[in-house]
Amino acid sequence: MSSAADGCVLVIFGASGDLTRRKLLPAIYNLSESGHIPGRFAILGVARPAIDEAAYRAQMRERVTDVEGEPLDPDKWTRIEERLHYISGEFDSPTVYAALARALGDLTRRYAIPPNVLFYFAIPPDLFGTVARHLAAAGLTAEADGWRRVIVEKPFGYDLESARALNAELSAGLHESQIYRIDHYLGKETVQNILAFRFANGIFEPTWNRRYVDHVQMTVAEEAGVEGRGAYYDKAGALRDMVQNHMFQLLTLVAMEPPISFRAEDVRNEKVKVLHAVQPFGEDEIRRDVVRAQYDGYAAEPSVARASRTETFTAMRLMIDSWRWAGVPFYLRTGKRMQRRSTEIAVQFKTAPQMLFRETPVECTNPNVLALRIQPDEGISLSFDAKVPGPLERLATVTMNFSYAEYFREESSTGYETLLFDAMTGDQTLFHRMDIVEAGWQVVDPILRAWQRDTSSTLPAYAPGSEGPVGAARLLERDDRRWRS
Ligand code: BG6
Repeated sequence: MSSAADGCVLVIFGASGDLTRRKLLPAIYNLSESGHIPGRFAILGVARPAIDEAAYRAQMRERVTDVEGEPLDPDKWTRIEERLHYISGEFDSPTVYAALARALGDLTRRYAIPPNVLFYFAIPPDLFGTVARHLAAAGLTAEADGWRRVIVEKPFGYDLESARALNAELSAGLHESQIYRIDHYLGKETVQNILAFRFANGIFEPTWNRRYVDHVQMTVAEEAGVEGRGAYYDKAGALRDMVQNHMFQLLTLVAMEPPISFRAEDVRNEKVKVLHAVQPFGEDEIRRDVVRAQYDGYAAEPSVARASRTETFTAMRLMIDSWRWAGVPFYLRTGKRMQRRSTEIAVQFKTAPQMLFRETPVECTNPNVLALRIQPDEGISLSFDAKVPGPLERLATVTMNFSYAEYFREESSTGYETLLFDAMTGDQTLFHRMDIVEAGWQVVDPILRAWQRDTSSTLPAYAPGSEGPVGAARLLERDDRRWRS
């Protein structure tokens, strides 16, 4: 991460929407608090509602205050609000782009901002192509003077074919180096820390392979259900919503080879190799190694089809065909309405080759587990066996724990701060590259197609607030393993 962001205008398409209110403006506010907003900066909101600038500013002030949960620091907010501008219009009308070009000229002159523009597409994906096309036609994506970058939000397609079509639409007017596909998981400190943990320390790397690692478990469990997003979620499901993007990003960070540098392309080259090395799922593997289920009551959620077969939980066992990971299973699971919210990666090491402690039967010893806790209770722990005090040679499992909150005493951010900052400094490391998106879809596409073909089997159910369906537990039991609880 560079320390100074370039002066620029941030243009937000979808400036009156949920994402802008809940994430983007609060993130700008936090960045301003931490001194990471460039001095020469302005925000230009573009949206449909025909309201004037004063009304837009007042609305945003109110919403950001709600999100922050406390009165805004008047100085900091005023500095943002004074530079918060708004134009309204339809995204498919050329007039809005002409107005945008004029407004950009005005703002850059008025505040002496360099001619850099960061466009944020906080709009539904079916509009990405339209907006990108109009921007290009209006000459607004050409980098003759200054840079032009575009941040797009997921979903990046619905399957491999639609992802390719979307990428083609975006690349018609933009070079890949201008496209920043955002994944808010990559903005999380604890996710970025996986790289620091693996590559800034000397002691872990020698054990980070098939010789020492027995298997890896990745869990993204949410207590919440679909929360008013039924219309979107019912078309997506857990595999598209969480696995193809967020969980595969975690997988690549855990499984990648050390990059030759931390430059964006070097890191992303290593990440994509992991996804290319995932053993393809054939019909038999899908039946055997992939589980899906729906929580009881899901089909009665608002905007969800009454006969919905959308999975709200999925688990899978996947293998990575590489020298490092051959034979080491990676178990992934994610679900909504689970017992508790927890995102964790647990690397379980092989047990000692021989048990020398006669008083402790082998089945009572526990393998070493390194747990990377992404959220909540962010931190890292390592469990190992230790001798119980006393004359007998008895063992018990103990844990060494590092807690972010205790150590750094920093409030965790939304993730958008880092990502917006990186986009302003031109660092694409934490953004998805086109081939990474497509490689992710390549892995899950056969599963999606198999599920789509299967319209008759009973979809397993699980009770809200539980650990998920029995099928997920069986996936590991079959291999003589079990999920960490
Ligand atoms: C989003 C998904 O991308 O990530 C949501 O669409 C999910 O369904 C959310 O709830 C989880 O993010 P976080 O940061 O709350 O773990």
